Amino acid sequence: MTHLAHVYESQQFTQPFLEKVFALADAMRVDPGPYQLPGKVLATLFYEASTRTRLSFEAAMLRLGGAVISTEMAREFSSHSKGETLEDTIKVVSNYADVIALRHYEIGAAKRAALASKVPLINAGDGAGQHPTQALLDLYTIKRKFGEIDGLTIAMVGDLLYGRTTRSLCYLLGRFYKVKLVFVAPPICKMAGDILSFLDEHQVSWAEETDLEVAAAQADCIYMTRVQKERFLDMGAYQEAAEKYRIDGALMTKAKTNAIVMHPLPRLSEIDVETDSDPRMVFFEQAGNGLWVRMALIYSLLTQGQG
Ligand code: NCD
Repeated sequence: MTHLAHVYESQQFTQPFLEKVFALADAMRVDPGPYQLPGKVLATLFYEASTRTRLSFEAAMLRLGGAVISTEMAREFSSHSKGETLEDTIKVVSNYADVIALRHYEIGAAKRAALASKVPLINAGDGAGQHPTQALLDLYTIKRKFGEIDGLTIAMVGDLLYGRTTRSLCYLLGRFYKVKLVFVAPPICKMAGDILSFLDEHQVSWAEETDLEVAAAQADCIYMTRVQKERFLDMGAYQEAAEKYRIDGALMTKAKTNAIVMHPLPRLSEIDVETDSDPRMVFFEQAGNGLWVRMALIYSLLTQGQG
């Protein structure tokens, strides 16, 4: 099944869909010329902070020859501040746009919005829920580096409880064979039970590890994340969690020589900038891949059924 009406969670991405989007992204980065959507309009509706996600969605639509309408800071500047429901806002915006990218602060908001939308709605992050398009570009980055996903060991590090990118990526990795996941998280940010149950159900091997060096030594991919300050009420607890794990030059001496280090960005102090020149650091390239993957996703959502 390669057709999707909306994208709200990464469990929706089947193998054929992934193959189609990745092949399109590969083709577009060589020559975007044949893939044009003139006259089509993307609306970006962002109720939470963003740099990469919003700008790469907008750049993607512009490079496809389409146009963009946008509300950043929608929490403050849209009719939300007057009390309008998300559903009503989406019903209105879906009259103006052919596709909507929504970032919201509530878990499940994208699914609710999809039900109200007449046009494809894409989840660009819903609170501590999911970030399926980030998972797409993450998987695309891993695939470009290693060729195959099967058999890889991936260490996920940092805020695995509130971080939506690792949650979405786990759902995608569950589709592959003999992938091993190693979770390294401060005690208050451990990977949640719903994901662990999903991995068990899909026979994905996973382990928790407290020592980052031990995890780094086994990993083909170290996926570092920011501790999500905005989801913490207790700033002391946040500080403690944020300082727990750090990738620096000494840590990288323990990592495999052909490993890669990913990060959805923004990065704070969890990856030492001194390590940026290490060729294993691929997070800026990863962010760059977001453009091609989002172009491919928008294009497939708007042209599916057209042969
Ligand atoms: C992530 C997010 O918003 O979930 N950023 C992104 O979209 N690249 C990660 C984060 O904010 O830490």
